[in-house]
Amino acid sequence: MDFLKEIKRRRTFGIISHPDAGKTTLTEKLLLFGGAIQEAGAVKSNKIKKGATSDFMEIERQRGISVATSVLAFVYKDKKINILDTPGHKDFSEDTFRTLTAVDSVIVVIDVAKGVEEQTEKLVEVCRMRKIPIIVFINKLDREGKDAFDLMDEVEQKLGLRVTPLSIPIGMGYDFKGIYNIWEKNIQLFQDESKQIIGKKEHFKSLDAPELETKIGAISLNNLKDELELIEGVYPPFNQQEYLDGTLQPVLFGSALNNFGVQELLNCFIEIAPEPLAKQSDTRLVKPDDKNFTGFVFKIHANMDPKHRDRLAFIKIVSGTFERNKPYHHVRLNKKLKFSSPNAFFAEKKQIVDISYPGDIVGIHDTGNFKIGDTLTTGDILQFKGIPSFSPEHFRFINNNDPLKSKQLAKGINQLMDEGVAQLFTLDLNGRKVIGTVGALQFEVIQYRLLNEYGAKCNFENLNVYKACWIEANDDSTDFIEFQRIKQKFLAKDKSGKLVFLADSAFSLQMTQEKFKEVKFHYTSEY
Ligand code: G4P
Repeated sequence: MDFLKEIKRRRTFGIISHPDAGKTTLTEKLLLFGGAIQEAGAVKSNKIKKGATSDFMEIERQRGISVATSVLAFVYKDKKINILDTPGHKDFSEDTFRTLTAVDSVIVVIDVAKGVEEQTEKLVEVCRMRKIPIIVFINKLDREGKDAFDLMDEVEQKLGLRVTPLSIPIGMGYDFKGIYNIWEKNIQLFQDESKQIIGKKEHFKSLDAPELETKIGAISLNNLKDELELIEGVYPPFNQQEYLDGTLQPVLFGSALNNFGVQELLNCFIEIAPEPLAKQSDTRLVKPDDKNFTGFVFKIHANMDPKHRDRLAFIKIVSGTFERNKPYHHVRLNKKLKFSSPNAFFAEKKQIVDISYPGDIVGIHDTGNFKIGDTLTTGDILQFKGIPSFSPEHFRFINNNDPLKSKQLAKGINQLMDEGVAQLFTLDLNGRKVIGTVGALQFEVIQYRLLNEYGAKCNFENLNVYKACWIEANDDSTDFIEFQRIKQKFLAKDKSGKLVFLADSAFSLQMTQEKFKEVKFHYTSEY
């Protein structure tokens, strides 16, 4: 098939939600409708959640929290769909932020009873900043929840979105009767059916179908008609360009667990969601149809197979084709690398692939060449932008517990930082190492992995830091020289050698900013 056609048929997206809203269930059902799996495990034996697919690491199995981000791909109506799974747990939100640099659109899942939750707010904010097209899926309609219109108001207010419903529920919870699909202009009735396979659904082509009133009752039918009128009067009509520009967000309703509204979501998604988009690099905008290959690493997975100590670097292809055994230029290392067994992802499996196209993700076995954000090219030298580090929330000194293993510890720390598990800062004053993380849980992950993968024992010591700020200043400015002298105790270098100020409180940060006007303080490493 030709190159341009291959690009056009790809849809690469992420599903984001607060934990428990139904992201895993929805992912599984999309695979079911995509024919990628034949039978979805019912809730308790949720294969994708509990099986080998998305929990590569031992620690994940132990904790039952999805700490990994995986790729699930399938073909639906001739579209190649790539789902980049994201961890919902807030301690791993930095992982999710990075994954969002590799998606072309997102689906946000919201629990009808809980409404907009904290984690959803944070993730959607990042999507809004990046103008990523968003579809909202309101899930669990088989349960009692909030009124559909109240919920759409909440989505607009808390998430700062401008919504337009593409479907509307008829009843809810015990009284849930079905869904009117504004997008396809038909009605689908809800039946109690097997949750594991795709059942037949009753469709009505219009509101005037004579049987409809008998099925749902006159009251429900009249309510529905009133609501549709209200929608027409209140919400903007759907406009694909506005959705693609990130200024309008369609909302659909359903119940992932009951396979209800999922196929409709998928049908709508493949029609409106963007094909692979161009990406900005430090020198130019790279378009997917550029003949030269470019791609970047957005995720590194460690030790999926305990027998092999290598890692898997996930590369998003931005332009050109990625081919097996072809030499690629690794920009940061300034060297050519060839890959004999790149992996592509299909449903729950990965397999060696000869050629991949823009929008696809390839997994490359890595023995330490890659860091998050690394760029590969075959054309001009460029570096993709937009994988910043954010200021961590928790900071602790890391101490070596076994002097005989200091080499192993240093190597382990280095590699875990390359994977983006946490951030390392080295104090200017005495060279002590400080680990910064988004959540407290990561310290346990680090300790566990250093011991199990590198044989290094460590402990952590609390350190009172409020925020890490990356410093921008003119080297010769007297303000900057004075700042360095006075704040020496609080200065450190991040892993790439950039100067960072570890402020111990909001107050001291504010005072420092006021005092040293020529020094700029940034909360992210890319400013
Ligand atoms: P997550 O990935 O966003 O964290 O959510 P997940 O899919 O694991 O779903 C969280 C819980 O919500 C699961 O129940 C799941 O079965 C349930 N769920 C998902 N979709 C629906 C729906 O449409 N209706 C209803 N009623 N429930 C839904 P659980 O008992 O916590 O799951 P498990 O412990 O069996 O894994």
